[in-house]
Amino acid sequence: MQIFGVDIGGTGIKGAPVDLGRGDLADDRFKVLTPHPATPDKVADGVAEVVNHFGWQGPVGITFPGVIADGSTVRTAANVDKSWIGVDARAMLHERTGGLPVTVINDADAAGVAEMQFGAGRGRGGTVLVLTLGTGIGSALFIDGRLVPNTELGHLELHGHDAEKHASTKVKEDHDMSWEHWAKRVQKYLAHVEMLFSPSLFIIGGGVSRKAHKFLPLIEGIEAEVVPARLQNNAGIVGAAMQAAKEA
Ligand code: BGC
Repeated sequence: MQIFGVDIGGTGIKGAPVDLGRGDLADDRFKVLTPHPATPDKVADGVAEVVNHFGWQGPVGITFPGVIADGSTVRTAANVDKSWIGVDARAMLHERTGGLPVTVINDADAAGVAEMQFGAGRGRGGTVLVLTLGTGIGSALFIDGRLVPNTELGHLELHGHDAEKHASTKVKEDHDMSWEHWAKRVQKYLAHVEMLFSPSLFIIGGGVSRKAHKFLPLIEGIEAEVVPARLQNNAGIVGAAMQAAKEA
């Protein structure tokens, strides 16, 4: 079965049909740049462009980089325009995709769902945390394979700052930080999260997971296993489609 997945990210809105049997894209993905400011209207245009590019007619799963209450209403918008807060994203994107059945899920939760089924978390019970390092820091918490949605651990306080303002990939890039310097920040963040949740496994996702060999070996003193995500940049697309399949 195929379902369409769209990932709304800080830099791009990407989508492709997903082969749910394989947990992989069924076609090359198509991407448009995320508009700035990333207002509901402009982002919805981008989502519609991606879906229309494939002439898709059928269920669509869409990630959003904020809390999604009850699968529809946006509650937070740390890295997109604040005018998203309170918007019924599900209803709006349904309308803007010409009436397709739409499912909306937090981006890290989507990536986590995909990793647990098809990637680094496959078959893993206990407490597993998937952390996505990108424009912000996203989190997906699993207890025996079951998602606890909307955990928002990127906004824990670390050294008096919002953790994602201290250890996201964007911070590394904005300040031109070395891998060593940034890895120490990620290490402090992981130690803090570990102190609070004692997971048995951390899965590190986001675009930077492609370069995991440059920073994961520099991280020390964490009891839990720390591994890179396997689906890397496509995890959000795949997870969004998986969620849509559940609701279809
Ligand atoms: C948002 C989360 C999101 C993460 C990654 C954070 O700023 O609050 O909801 O998952 O960024 O995009």
